[in-house]
Amino acid sequence: MPMNEIMLIVGTRPEIIKMAPVARTLQAKSIPLIFVHCGQHYDYNMSQQFIEELELPKPDYGFEVKVSSPSLQTGRIMAIIGKVVNKVKPRLVLVEGDTNGVLASGLAALKMNVPVGHVEAGLRSFDLRMPEEHNRRLVDHISAYLFAPTENSRKNLEKENVWGKIFVTGNTVIDAVMQHLPIAERKSKILKKIKFDEFALATAHRAENVDDLVVLRNLVEAFVEAPIQIVYPVHPRTQKRLRQQKMWKKLTTSKNVQTLPPLGYFDFLLLMKKCRMIITDSGGIQEEATAPTLRKPVLVTRLSTERPEAVRSGFAKVVGVEKEGILENIKRALIGGFSFSKFSPYGNGDSAMKIVDIVMKEAS
Ligand code: UD1
Ligand code: UDP
Repeated sequence: MPMNEIMLIVGTRPEIIKMAPVARTLQAKSIPLIFVHCGQHYDYNMSQQFIEELELPKPDYGFEVKVSSPSLQTGRIMAIIGKVVNKVKPRLVLVEGDTNGVLASGLAALKMNVPVGHVEAGLRSFDLRMPEEHNRRLVDHISAYLFAPTENSRKNLEKENVWGKIFVTGNTVIDAVMQHLPIAERKSKILKKIKFDEFALATAHRAENVDDLVVLRNLVEAFVEAPIQIVYPVHPRTQKRLRQQKMWKKLTTSKNVQTLPPLGYFDFLLLMKKCRMIITDSGGIQEEATAPTLRKPVLVTRLSTERPEAVRSGFAKVVGVEKEGILENIKRALIGGFSFSKFSPYGNGDSAMKIVDIVMKEAS
């Protein structure tokens, strides 16, 4: 096998979405691509569904890593990706984001002396309770190429004296929204299933939120008592916790809340387009809401964010995890308490093109 391919590794829902524009651009430029799914997410609706919808190639190497311990998950992924990298000997491994799979894959590549390119480098929440904060810091320090979405993320990297080369590229999630929303508007039938005319769109899955009984209860009560009806696609981690903590019934029988399984990207994009506001602890959704074709207010149900650009540009507000604070901010958003800057701080949809151009120049 010649040492010439770019290996693009994904493992979870947001990585597939954010890497889709990169994969597409590599293919359009006929750059040999080895596509790997490390298997951190494995349910159809968290994984394969996105590969099909976004018309990505079938992974050349695909895995399922069904373990509940984060260390076992990280270790297993490192072992399997190590073998794949050793076999293929790519000239560069590209990873995206801050999951355990990203850290494991990056380390596996490094151990095989293959350079790592980190897409979405330099984000910092400065909240060390978050596994993502550990992962993103570590991956940034082992990467040869750092694709920082904004000047702020570049500054974070410079302050930490990372040894790789830094490039400011925007975030590929804006490319993903621009490329897929028009298709979603044609194809998605989700609105026929939604019971409410006007609604807030909610998601929750951060470990420090949903694995904490008090926070989980606050979120459920806020959704049930909200002064606007809530459409809520539930992440599998959260469904598991809600059932364990006997809150599932309260949520699913509430007339104020419509729960749904995790949705495909087209359905979710359309709900983002149609909702009054978004209530979420997701990272990617904070960015997507700033896209020129979406422009929605986001209440971030967390204590911090690694996306301060979304806050500074008026799209997002960190509202904490107390019920009263969340409800107060929903009321404020309903009376128009948000004003947005003109442009998305995450670019205008040409991020994948910039990344691929840099890859071609630097790693050829
Ligand atoms: C992971 C990432 C998080 C990212 C999120 C995207 C880490 C530390 N966390 O969180 O940064 O925002 O993915 O959604 O890497 N599960 C299933 N089926 C699946 C996937 C997960 O049932 O296909 C359940 C399992 O019970 C599993 C749990 O969810 O143990 C947690 O999954 P895991 O991938 O470890 O973390 P996420 O919460 O999904
Ligand atoms: N998303 C989706 N279906 C859903 C919920 C989210 O397609 O039911 C998309 C969303 O548009 C965004 C990504 O998944 O692009 C965010 O994933 P998640 O919140 O799980 O992870 P994070 O961004 O926090 O890492």
